[in-house]
Amino acid sequence: MYKKPEFDAKYKEHLTNKIFDLKKKKGALIVAHNYQRDEVQEIADLTGDSYALACRVKEAKEELVVFCGVKFMAESAHMLSPDKTILLPVEEAGCPLADMATIEKLREKKREYPEAAVVCYVNSTARVKSESDICCTSSNAVQIVKSLSQKQIIFVPDKNLGRYVAKHVPEKEFILWDGYCVVHMRLTKDEVSKTKEIHSEAKFIAHPECREEVLELAEYVGSTAGMIKYVKESTDKVFIVGTEKGIIYRLNRDNPEKEFYVPTDQFICANMKLTTLGWLVRALEKEVYKITVPEEIAKKARVTLERMLEVTV
Ligand code: 13P
Ligand code: SF4
Repeated sequence: MYKKPEFDAKYKEHLTNKIFDLKKKKGALIVAHNYQRDEVQEIADLTGDSYALACRVKEAKEELVVFCGVKFMAESAHMLSPDKTILLPVEEAGCPLADMATIEKLREKKREYPEAAVVCYVNSTARVKSESDICCTSSNAVQIVKSLSQKQIIFVPDKNLGRYVAKHVPEKEFILWDGYCVVHMRLTKDEVSKTKEIHSEAKFIAHPECREEVLELAEYVGSTAGMIKYVKESTDKVFIVGTEKGIIYRLNRDNPEKEFYVPTDQFICANMKLTTLGWLVRALEKEVYKITVPEEIAKKARVTLERMLEVTV
């Protein structure tokens, strides 16, 4: 009989050893987003949300960084740390939300609302960042918007996060971009309600990229790092998790005595799952794929990221 688990365990050990050898030989740092595969999070030097990873890469002493995540994250890391080599193991690992805004359409919007400040979610292309005033992530969006003197805000590209921020900053007027995360939009209010009926004692935590009616059911809304912190500090024992399934690895690791349920099996970001241990070996061996942003775009986009870091406490 074919014993798949044993083979998988041996192969995984083989790849893991290779990664550790190459990492040591090249003096590389491996960082992974909270949605990465379990085995990738397991071997990473650090895991985190978009904000934490960008900051940690900037502070890192290593000159070679393997970024296990999606392209906009690696681009931001590169723009904040232009002297480091940032590798994305799978070149095609993109973010459909980031591609929902273009610089041309954003320029049109700016012409329509010349008084407005443009706040751009980090899940965006470098070109869109370069046309914005300041960047934000899901962990600091409310704080960033509150820090601005302008009354009108063009929020690009995620309408769900934008609407969530607007509710927390009612004194400002929001012009929301019509973009969304295809993964978080899949979660419906009914799926959450049904899961709540089965686990009536559970607390529902959600990412702000979820639909408005889903967020209304949440006891906590925050970034992936925010959710991890909330669960760790909570005295509750059972949680329904409204974000990509990859986060369960970290939640289980940090809280072995707590239980976690996802309201839908569809909560998978295919782009985040492209990175495997095999591609990670290749990335370190061949030093691919080097993420760069043309300097004329990076020069302006970097300012929006640096402004975000200055404002965030
Ligand atoms: P976080 O910054 O909360 O980790 O989210 C990134 C992301 O892509 C959410 O879909
Ligand atoms: Fe982009 Fe959504 Fe995947 Fe996050 S979960 S990387 S927003 S597609």
